[in-house]
Amino acid sequence: MKSSLKRVQIKMMKALAKLNLRKKLYQKYSDRSQYPVTLSMGPVAFEVLRCGVKLGIFDELDREEGQTTEQLSAALHVDLYPLNICLRALDYLKLVINIDTRYYNHPLNTMSFLKKHRDIFYADTQMDYMHHIVGPACAFLEESLTSGRPQGLYNLFGTDCNFYEAISKDKERLQYFDAFMKNITNRNKERVTSDSFFSSRKRILDVGGSTGDIAVSLARHHSGLEVTVMDFPEILKVAAEKFKDSGLETRLDTLTGDPLKELPSGYDCMLFFHFFDIFSPEDVRLLLKNAYEALPPNGAVCIFTPVNYEDSVTHSDLFGPYFLCLAEGQGKFYTKEKIVEWLRQERFTNVSVRELPFDDAFIYAEKQ
Ligand SMILES: C[S@@+](CC[C@H](N)C(=O)[O-])C[C@H]1O[C@@H](n2cnc3c(N)ncnc32)[C@H](O)[C@@H]1O
Repeated sequence: MKSSLKRVQIKMMKALAKLNLRKKLYQKYSDRSQYPVTLSMGPVAFEVLRCGVKLGIFDELDREEGQTTEQLSAALHVDLYPLNICLRALDYLKLVINIDTRYYNHPLNTMSFLKKHRDIFYADTQMDYMHHIVGPACAFLEESLTSGRPQGLYNLFGTDCNFYEAISKDKERLQYFDAFMKNITNRNKERVTSDSFFSSRKRILDVGGSTGDIAVSLARHHSGLEVTVMDFPEILKVAAEKFKDSGLETRLDTLTGDPLKELPSGYDCMLFFHFFDIFSPEDVRLLLKNAYEALPPNGAVCIFTPVNYEDSVTHSDLFGPYFLCLAEGQGKFYTKEKIVEWLRQERFTNVSVRELPFDDAFIYAEKQ
């Protein structure tokens, strides 16, 4: 009798311990348990966050913390009812915190969305690009995966077109793309363009140099340098205007052409900045082969790009699906090791890799 009572007692204690453990686990991981729910409502969560930025909710709470919905409504000129809905959703997303009917920015999570930090975090340009272009294209991710074709690209720009060429002809969308790209490039632009490596060069070809920001920066840092940007004609018109305004027009030029077919001679250095990631490995090798053929002895190639890692994932892996359904259906960020391997396979020597903040790399190599 005594032993069966003991057994029941032990059973009950075990059950209680289990319950307690579950409670503790729930408390510990409750934050994370919201994560799949939030993801499954991705577009809503994203648009709510974007409204927080666009309406200026985070900036207003940064200016004066602890405001009520009524105060925010007056300051932002948004009606109480929709604002309340937005604030509750932002609260759930842990972007704002509601204490006793007053709202505060989440100290860490909202930091990157404040206007005063926009040069460091470029969150607003990234969100505009996602909202206007990537989001609508990614609605066709499933079709892109199953058909093996970039269905997002076809639905947005028409079939059988090249994303970069198509966007270069679409003034409105180009603005979003250009602003987003500029901010990504800016995070390491000065580190790269001020590199003493360029001082020994005379004529540079910036392949896929877009609207010429890198070219202007290089010409400013190195007074003996001439830079030519190769890109699509509509983009080069914008670059040419920029060159005029920069006062460096005599050392800056533009050029059209298909780098996959042939690269022009007459340059002692070729840049591939944020360029390899839009091509398949076969095309990257073709670009390097064309560069090798066009460069003189001691000519160099420079690559400035975000990199991936073989043994871990980073936020750049989220760009894979975007490339898949929008940008040609191919291309991705590559590892430093892969790029170095391709350079060596295409006979380049003196390969040097410089790691940069934000998972970027600056790689250069020479033709012997
Ligand atoms: C991702 S952006 C990089 C822009 C710039 N190099 C930078 O680092 O910010 C790629 C650029 O390559 C250009 N591009 C893509 N395919 C091209 C091609 N076949 N010929 C010339 N330019 C191309 C695009 O128009 C775009 O400006």
